[in-house]
Amino acid sequence: MKEHLVIFDTTLRDGEQSPGASMTKEEKLRVARQLERMRVDVIEAGFAAASPGDFDAIRSIAEAVRDSTVCSLARANEGDIRRAAEAIRPAASGRIHTFIATSPIHMEKKLRMSPDQVVEAAVAAVRLARQFCDDVEFSAEDAVRSDFDFLCRIFEAAIKAGAGTINVPDTVGYSVPSVWGERMRALIERVPGADKVVWSTHCHNDLGMAVANSLAAVMAGARQVECTINGLGERAGNAALEEVVMAVRTRGDLFPVETRIDTTQIVPASKLVSGITGYPVQPNKAIVGANAFAHESGIHQDGVLKHRETYEIMLAQDVGWTQNKLVLGKHSGRNAFKSRLAELGIVIESEEHLNLAFSRFKELADKKHEIFDEDLQALMSDETVTPEQEHFKLVSLRVASETGETPRARMTLSVDGSEKHGDADGSGPVDACFKAIERIADSSSELLLYSVNSITSGTDAQGEVTVRLARNGRVVNGQGADTDIIVASAKAYINALNRLVSKPEKVNPQV
Ligand code: KIV
Ligand code: ZN
Repeated sequence: MKEHLVIFDTTLRDGEQSPGASMTKEEKLRVARQLERMRVDVIEAGFAAASPGDFDAIRSIAEAVRDSTVCSLARANEGDIRRAAEAIRPAASGRIHTFIATSPIHMEKKLRMSPDQVVEAAVAAVRLARQFCDDVEFSAEDAVRSDFDFLCRIFEAAIKAGAGTINVPDTVGYSVPSVWGERMRALIERVPGADKVVWSTHCHNDLGMAVANSLAAVMAGARQVECTINGLGERAGNAALEEVVMAVRTRGDLFPVETRIDTTQIVPASKLVSGITGYPVQPNKAIVGANAFAHESGIHQDGVLKHRETYEIMLAQDVGWTQNKLVLGKHSGRNAFKSRLAELGIVIESEEHLNLAFSRFKELADKKHEIFDEDLQALMSDETVTPEQEHFKLVSLRVASETGETPRARMTLSVDGSEKHGDADGSGPVDACFKAIERIADSSSELLLYSVNSITSGTDAQGEVTVRLARNGRVVNGQGADTDIIVASAKAYINALNRLVSKPEKVNPQV
């Protein structure tokens, strides 16, 4: 009999700490519903004390999700724990995840606390959390650089105080598999009460070993892995959920554990998170990259055609890759549109929102006769479907571009309801277009990233553009999709500006 491996997804908390990846409440709800559909055991829905918006999002997720445990992060202090407890109160199954840093560098330089004070705070936090919730997780931040004996001491104290899960994070992505596995094994052997709790691992990817380290910890006895969709997360990201899950499943001959994940939901989850956060998935990314199951070389193709297993160790369908599916067209009605969205996990709450989304769908169907799931996902990722968030709105755009001539753009935006015009030249049509937007918006932001992807194949495919802007240390991603990539670029830029205006600053729990 295999043991159960708990999949703890932290896309909505650690993943959201990536620059520009912050999500609105509606976006978080969509991701949470997809995670539930995928049968993730625990969804870390956010850090309740970060902002009223985060609190609200966790609460809505706790109300909506029934089949996964909903968790909030809390620093080891009373205010955070009370806030987390309040946010997860409506959950069918809730968890409070409290943490404190335990490495000498973090205790001295960040917390300015002595080791004794840190143990005291951890115990008090776990005890308080247990007053609200039976399911409490304790993490020792920067466990990777913490003294081993001190880790044993604090974990023993946290278990005695009532923690049911003990998480060992490689916060800075410093470990290597042999060392990380050994540390997990030694902790489980040494800490009194270790057999009463679930041991968990949480690895960052700074040296590209987050998944390998997580799997080494599983081999050594960890029974929970903390991970994110597409490996999203601070800096180089966290362990990628899809890689951990598929490694355990594909190498069932090696791992003594199994997960309850519905793997066919992996690719939809990957696309949803990428679309919402504006973090594209590299084509050669394991499991969810566009090339992960493509065979370019003639030799491989020949082998795969003769016998699939010559070069393939997994089935593309098992992780949710399907042929581009023609789903809707120009004659599809509102109900067909709404129910296809529901099948994709996109629930539209208000009539007004549905009307707006449907008229955008009709516009797209006029330009592009075959509408695929990917088109719908891109359409719905475009934040302009949420009317209250539109400070800037694209009214019209005219771009002149000719060989030998300087490209010129004329832009009309609606700014809080009143129309404004801007003209600009540029080194290319996109450059001219962005400059024309800035003539109107005057945002003083810096463009950090501009990328274009085609959503489906064919020359009538929609181009999906990501724009990353920074202002005063804040970073946001904007996305736009259209069959005309200049229009998609303008939409992405405007979407990023709207995010700069509408998304409030958040507190990072670890800083
Ligand atoms: O990386 C880390 O240490 C964390 C903790 C808050 C668990 O994200
Ligand atoms: Zn982390």
